[in-house]
Amino acid sequence: MSKQLTIGLFGFGVVGEGLYKVLQQTPSLNASVKKVVIRHPEKKRSAPPDLFTTDASAVLNDPLINVVVELIDDADAAFAIISTALLNGKAVVSANKKCIAEHLDELLSLQERTGSALLYEAAACASIPVIRNLEEYYDNDLLRGVAGIVNGSTNFILSRMIEGDLSFKDALLLAQQLGFAESDPSLDVDGIDAVNKLAILLLHSYGVITRPGDLLHSGIRHITRADIGYAEEKGCRIKLVARAVKLKNDRVNAFVLPQFINQSSLLHNVNNEYNGVTIRSGLADEQFFYGKGAGGFPTASAVLSDLSALRYNYRYEYRKKYREQIPALAADAFLKVYVSFDQQHDIPETVFEWIEESHSGPGRSYIIGAIAQENLLKSDWWRQPGVSLILTAEPFVEDLELRSVKRRSLQLAGVV
Ligand SMILES: NC(=O)c1ccc[n+]([C@@H]2O[C@H](COP(=O)([O-])OP(=O)(O)OC[C@H]3O[C@@H](n4cnc5c(N)ncnc54)[C@H](OP(=O)(O)O)[C@@H]3O)[C@@H](O)[C@H]2O)c1
Repeated sequence: MSKQLTIGLFGFGVVGEGLYKVLQQTPSLNASVKKVVIRHPEKKRSAPPDLFTTDASAVLNDPLINVVVELIDDADAAFAIISTALLNGKAVVSANKKCIAEHLDELLSLQERTGSALLYEAAACASIPVIRNLEEYYDNDLLRGVAGIVNGSTNFILSRMIEGDLSFKDALLLAQQLGFAESDPSLDVDGIDAVNKLAILLLHSYGVITRPGDLLHSGIRHITRADIGYAEEKGCRIKLVARAVKLKNDRVNAFVLPQFINQSSLLHNVNNEYNGVTIRSGLADEQFFYGKGAGGFPTASAVLSDLSALRYNYRYEYRKKYREQIPALAADAFLKVYVSFDQQHDIPETVFEWIEESHSGPGRSYIIGAIAQENLLKSDWWRQPGVSLILTAEPFVEDLELRSVKRRSLQLAGVV
């Protein structure tokens, strides 16, 4: 017999209200919302007024509430709510990727200490069940890599730039008008939301915990129509891709960067606000998850699935983290990149290990070559307005012999 869930809900916004409605239509779940904590009591709500309170302790200290569902838009307050709920013996479901990614270590310790479960399927790719699949199905040894379009706003903007001939600015404006981007879009367009999700995926893929800010990441803010045109000429689309890969040296490399995606990639046709994740494993080769990465009902569907799992006492066991051999996280790859820049910029050729192609135009120039990942982590010349750096379709240079030959030929040519 599965247990009765008595829920204290934090937040009644896009996702919270969506979840409330869905729960009304799912009596079989054996779950009821006892109290909803919100911030602004004056707002009109589509639920009975006596359900709402601004007093967090009305949920956190109620012994009859056995599950806290945290769906607020404030990551710091969310961490306090989740921690207190776990310490008070309640199971927690959250969709707050920023809070979870920034506090992975503490949240794991809290779960260990209290024995209470924290589930957060909605925190990476909303409706796509990627966390539980990585956690349960793919063994660390067999998992070669995970690559995904995990942010719907940036994917919508890039799709409009490609299909609507829009500039970044106009595509962003359209995304905001249609509700696909926030009024402050920086978390999305600078790749921060995507790198938060990548940090969560890294834990469930390889057992690796890292601070999201330490991973190489950028967004799509400086991508121009000229870059889109170059990609189209080569039969590619530009996508913002979050990637964790086990390289030949058995180390895991992870970053979020825009990339040219060619037609043979399963990510090529993930357009507009949709998300898509490919998982590459040793035996099964490549598998693909596709779906809505945002929105009230799609996100609520993942929260609902976590609630359903709690009825059977499901919890993440973090087996990959607690097993002995966690692969090292390294940022020592050589990446093949396209760098385009306007006339105000002079990109030093010395930053490249070698250069394969370069072009100087009246408005914009570009260089295609290989760069050490460490170089990108340490410098910010490539993040300046007027410069865009995009990974090529096959970005990893794993053949180090080839690298030294090419480096040597650059030295002989007097470039480095
Ligand atoms: N929207 C999506 O598509 C989506 C997808 C995946 C994950 N998520 C995540 O889901 C969470 C909720 O997102 P959302 O889009 O539903 O946000 P939202 O529409 O902005 O709603 C936020 C809700 O949180 C409440 N709130 C804020 N601070 C609070 C506090 N300290 N105590 C109690 N309530 C508080 C607000 O109260 P008032 O109503 O009183 O202002 C509001 O009801 C976020 O972590 C977000 O990253 C969202």
